[in-house]
Amino acid sequence: MLKVDLSGASAFFTGAGPDYAHAALAHETLLSGSGLGSDFTGWLGLPRRIRDTELDRIVAAAEKIRARSRALVVVGIGGSYLGARGAIELLRPVPGEGDPKVFFVGNGLSADYLCDVLRQLGDADFDVNVISKSGTTLEPAVSFRIFRELLAKKYGDMAGEHIFATTDARRGALKSLADAEGWESFVVPDDVGGRFSVLSAVGLLPMAVAGIDVRRVVDAAVAEMDALRVPGSDNPAWQYAAARQNLYGKGFSVEILGCYEPSFRFMAEWWKQLYGESEGKDGKGIFPASVEYTADLHSMGQYVQEGPRMLMESIVRFDSSLCSYAVPFDAADGDGLNYIAGRDLAEVCAVAADAVKEAHISGGVPNIVIRCARRDEEGFAALVCFFEFACALSGYMSGVNPFNQPGVEAYKKNMFRMLGKPGAV
Ligand code: PA5
Repeated sequence: MLKVDLSGASAFFTGAGPDYAHAALAHETLLSGSGLGSDFTGWLGLPRRIRDTELDRIVAAAEKIRARSRALVVVGIGGSYLGARGAIELLRPVPGEGDPKVFFVGNGLSADYLCDVLRQLGDADFDVNVISKSGTTLEPAVSFRIFRELLAKKYGDMAGEHIFATTDARRGALKSLADAEGWESFVVPDDVGGRFSVLSAVGLLPMAVAGIDVRRVVDAAVAEMDALRVPGSDNPAWQYAAARQNLYGKGFSVEILGCYEPSFRFMAEWWKQLYGESEGKDGKGIFPASVEYTADLHSMGQYVQEGPRMLMESIVRFDSSLCSYAVPFDAADGDGLNYIAGRDLAEVCAVAADAVKEAHISGGVPNIVIRCARRDEEGFAALVCFFEFACALSGYMSGVNPFNQPGVEAYKKNMFRMLGKPGAV
């Protein structure tokens, strides 16, 4: 399990500090299924369920793709996209020898981006994993139409063999197409919303194709979810949820999630969706933003240190690096760096992180540290389960339904009317 260090936030808390009685109530509400949106809490049991149902088929499909193709094109947006991308960039930032390259499309409407992907894809053999729970989302539907045409040109009658559809078990245009065309299909469970679906086939199939050991991920997630179910003020999800709600109550309305690993960038994007879509409603919600350290210290650092004081900072730190590299000694020392010669880069980075923490706290930014053992399959599972569980608690603590997203429909209505969709008003 992860560890949450609130020592850098304690000086900023209101009253007696994090309200664990309120966290206990949210925990009970979540696990008893008595809260708002409780029919979308299937993610709590998802790791065990996927292990008992689709996991073998996911691994077999991934092996088939890895054996025959140089690329997988993943078509999806939002919750049908960000988790897989976060996982792959975190755990496989550089594809291993023989790993297919994973391209993500359907997460926007840019013609230029699409053409860039097509150029990179070239004439490589490829498969397509189209992911859409509703099966009707415009961005992935458009990209999927384009890639279906390409598959048909490339593979003729065999094109359907290269399509894997991840969608609702019963409903939607994609489900109907998949059934009619006989594509291999995987399920986005009814009781799991898009942003909570990374541990279903939505995330696991692209991850497995990229060479991530998804059995390890799922096994670890089973244990993590079990551990998070245990109530108590030492539960890291309670600590994180209660601390951020306390700070929000004191006016810290923006949370920046940071990490010292550049490979964490898309995990932060996944986190932003998870928290933004779950909490930003009814006129409430902490605004989730992200930074990549140390790079952003040279761009955003000024604002964090001295801008308006509504920022809280949550930093994900990995206890051990996967690699080590010592700073070389240089007899001439023209750059004056010999004072750190021989010290491991990971150690230098850890010192920098401590220095940043101290500076930002002294600048009035509460600091929460989320400590994860390693940047590996178990670490990824721990991060996902922790952030999902804490998000649900935090949403219930602030009085919203953490599992709906009514606000995302507003722009779609306008867009469909402007595009002339039949029936749109
Ligand atoms: O979390 C969500 O519900 C959304 O981000 C959806 O995942 C996103 O809009 C894509 O929807 P769909 O999977 O239906 O295409």
